[in-house]
Amino acid sequence: MSKNKKNENSIRLLDHEYDGIREYDQHLPNWWLFTLYGAIVFSVANWFFYFQTNPFDTDVTRLHAEMKVLQNAQTAASLKMLNDEVLWKQSRNPDFVEAGRATFTTTCVPCHGAQLLGGIGPNLTDKVWIHGGRPTQMFNTIVKGAYAPTGEPTAMQAWGPILGSRKIAELVAFILSHHDTIEIQPAETSVPAQ
Ligand code: HEC
Repeated sequence: MSKNKKNENSIRLLDHEYDGIREYDQHLPNWWLFTLYGAIVFSVANWFFYFQTNPFDTDVTRLHAEMKVLQNAQTAASLKMLNDEVLWKQSRNPDFVEAGRATFTTTCVPCHGAQLLGGIGPNLTDKVWIHGGRPTQMFNTIVKGAYAPTGEPTAMQAWGPILGSRKIAELVAFILSHHDTIEIQPAETSVPAQ
């Protein structure tokens, strides 16, 4: 008796019948079962390695890392281009000033007042500057926050990590739009990297 013959005899015909179609009680072929169980084992291993322990970089983490490098390079490049003259010019540009006004209204008004005349924080429209009236000095004060001479932080926190340099440049433009001239004429004019 050949192997095929034996198989045919041992396969049971199932009881049900649909439109004249009958079904054998066949075992699934081993190669098929192998791919099924293989896929299950692979999915568990894949889930464990990539989503639980993550010992290797995924494409997504690699992409994020590369984007960060690019963004840092861009920020550094745009910060190098920021100087007193550029910031002053931006303060004569209504789009920049308006954008700065929007951020100032939501973030800075409680301490500096809607008219920038001061309250908890100092007046930003007069010619008196604790931390320097040059546009780049203002930019730095807003990015890094203000410290007392003793090194103690003041109520003026560092806004750099929260707002980013673009919004801060707009804020400087908005403050400078209340001034006709730069109070202290610029000496050195580039903003140190954050
Ligand atoms: C919680 C209150 C508070 C908030 C909110 C605040 N500031 Fe200030 N700010 C201060 C204080 C207080 C000082 C003065 C610090 C000191 O005495 O050295 C100051 C100082 C400054 C200075 C320097 C002034 C000078 O005379 O040199 C600038 C510029 C400034 N703030 C801009 C901003 C901007 C822009 C925002 C919004 C992003 C903001 N501040 C939000 C409290 C605040």
